[in-house]
Amino acid sequence: MRAAIYPGSFDPLTNGHLSIIARGLKLFDRLIVAIAVNPKKTPLFTVEERVELIKQACPDPRVEVDHFEGLLVNYARQRSVKVLLRGLRAVSDFDYEFQMANMNRTLAPDVETVFMMTGEDYFYISSQLVREAAALGGNVDNLVPKNVLPRLKEKFGLK
Ligand code: PNS
Repeated sequence: MRAAIYPGSFDPLTNGHLSIIARGLKLFDRLIVAIAVNPKKTPLFTVEERVELIKQACPDPRVEVDHFEGLLVNYARQRSVKVLLRGLRAVSDFDYEFQMANMNRTLAPDVETVFMMTGEDYFYISSQLVREAAALGGNVDNLVPKNVLPRLKEKFGLK
């Protein structure tokens, strides 16, 4: 069974994430979507809300939704998974992802990071921009899964 961990903040899950999950399932038999919990950050959605929203949006039994605190590579070892899956959008992602992949490889040489290029429909979508646009009343209907949209509007007191 080929398994990979797809780690991220998913605050909130976007259509870009969904696309990577769908494509990741073509390469791997099983994906663990792992929400990183950073106690120093105050997310828009609680970890429980994010788990629920991702589970609803990804009913495929090959997708497991989990969360972790601390180092990603420790979590990967704990789950006995040796592949981390990340999406790469524009060139601007490269530096951060390159540093992270190399740091993770230094910490755990047995864990490999695999990148997938985000499709042209999604390369500009990030959770941060979705949050910002939604907070200001912008239309993000086509950027997030259907189940995320009402919850996002609710967060900002919009209908
Ligand atoms: O969706 P994001 O915010 O770009 O995801 C970043 C994430 C969660 C994958 C990264 O911050 C992470 O792996 N955090 C866990 C802590 C860790 O392992 N840090 C060292 C990596 S260099």
